[in-house]
This record gives sequence, structure tokens and C-alpha cells, in this order.
Amino acid sequence: MAAFGIFKLSLLLSLLSNSHHLGLWSGASNRESVGISPPSCSRIECPSYDVIHVGNGFEIRRYNSTVWMSTSPIQDISLVEATRTGFLQLFDYIQGKNDYEQKIEMTAPVITEVSPSDGPLCESSFVISFSVPKLNQANPPPAKGLHLQRWEPVYAAVRQFSGFVADSDVGEEAAALQASLAGTVWSAAIEKSHGADHSSGYTVAQYNSPFEFDDRVNEIWMLFNIQDELTFM
Ligand SMILES: *[C@@H]1O[C@H](CO)[C@@H](O)[C@H](O)[C@H]1NC(C)=O
Repeated sequence: MAAFGIFKLSLLLSLLSNSHHLGLWSGASNRESVGISPPSCSRIECPSYDVIHVGNGFEIRRYNSTVWMSTSPIQDISLVEATRTGFLQLFDYIQGKNDYEQKIEMTAPVITEVSPSDGPLCESSFVISFSVPKLNQANPPPAKGLHLQRWEPVYAAVRQFSGFVADSDVGEEAAALQASLAGTVWSAAIEKSHGADHSSGYTVAQYNSPFEFDDRVNEIWMLFNIQDELTFM
């Protein structure tokens, strides 16, 4: 069943690949980026954002308003396994397994919010989310086991990496992002922001289906708020 679902997704993505040029990844070509723009975003809808700052090995983005359909927290020792479990739930959702039996266009990225758990089993808690297309944001169909998240404007410190996400890479990439931010105003803002809710979590954003082998782009996001904007602009 799972393999069939993923097959359908790859078919869906290839069907979509020539029909959508939403151009939402704007600004990417004329900035000094440390990474590349996820190619998926020229084919399918991605949430739009503004690049606030480009640093050495990271960039700072502001997402004004994003709407996500999210799983319940999934406890697992593996981000890859938890993401697969959550993704299949979300894939059913966009295929019409929701209260309105409505089909929804695929978007990117699929994000995995990671919260370290303080239990004894080295498990973490993962919430997997699908970016709701603008068309559906006013009235996204509810579904059992899923909940809607409407994010307030939020900043993200972002590091890109390529290939297939492996559990062994994720911690390293997050540590590399943290190291590249060390000593910057952004690091201070993240610490202040995370300090407030005692979380040291991060988010992994994946832009490609499992059947795409080239130009795979993933990102680590550290999300934060800025209390006093003027200090940073
Ligand atoms: C985000 O909001 C700001 C302030 O209202 C606006 O200038 C900017 O164009 C918006 N960015 C996007 C990507 O919608």
C-alpha cells in the first residue's frame, strides 16, 4: 500500500511538472544565495517568503503567513520513519480522504518539526505538515487525526543540503546551522525566542518526492520571532 501511494505521488508530480509555473520562488535568481532554489518550487506551489539577510552558510527568511495541515505528534527514534508515516497520512488527505472528499494540489515543502523528548528512550517527537495551497487556505477540509496550523509571521534561519535525508545527517546539519549562526544577532534572537518556550527544536523541510534523484533540496529551519524589529533591520 505504501509503495503504491508513493508511486501515485511520483506520477502526480510528473504530471504537474509542466503545468504550473507559479513563480513563487521569486527573488531567488537575483540574490547572493548560499544555496539553490528548490527546483520543485518552479513546478508546484511553495509558501512565499522574503529574504531578510544572507549570511555565511545560512539565510534569514520571513514567512508572512503560512497555513499547514499537520499530523499529531509522532514519537519515534527516526526522523525518516516518522516523516514517512506522517507523509502517507497527508498524502491520503490531499487525495480526498478528508471531510469534504476534496482533492488538493501537491505543494512543497513537507516539513518535519522536531522536538527533543526528555523520555528515557532517545525518542523524539515529530509533527509532519503539508503546506496548504493558497486556493484552499480560506477553508481547508478538516480530517480525522490532522489539525490546521496558521502561522503568524515568523523568521527562519535556513541551511540547505542536498540528497536524501538520512537520520545521521540531520543532527549534523542542524549543528552546522547553529555553528554558522554563532555570534550573530540572529543567534541571539533564536535563543531569546526559544528560551521563551523552552524548546530547542528545529524543522526539516523536504522539497522532493522519493522518486526524484537529481536536484534534491532539503533545508533545516530554526524558527524564531523578533520582538523588537528595529534592532535587526
Ligand atoms: C510580507 O509583508 C510585508 C509587510 O506587509 C510586505 O512588504 C511583503 O511584500 C510581504 N511578503 C510576501 C512574500 O508576501
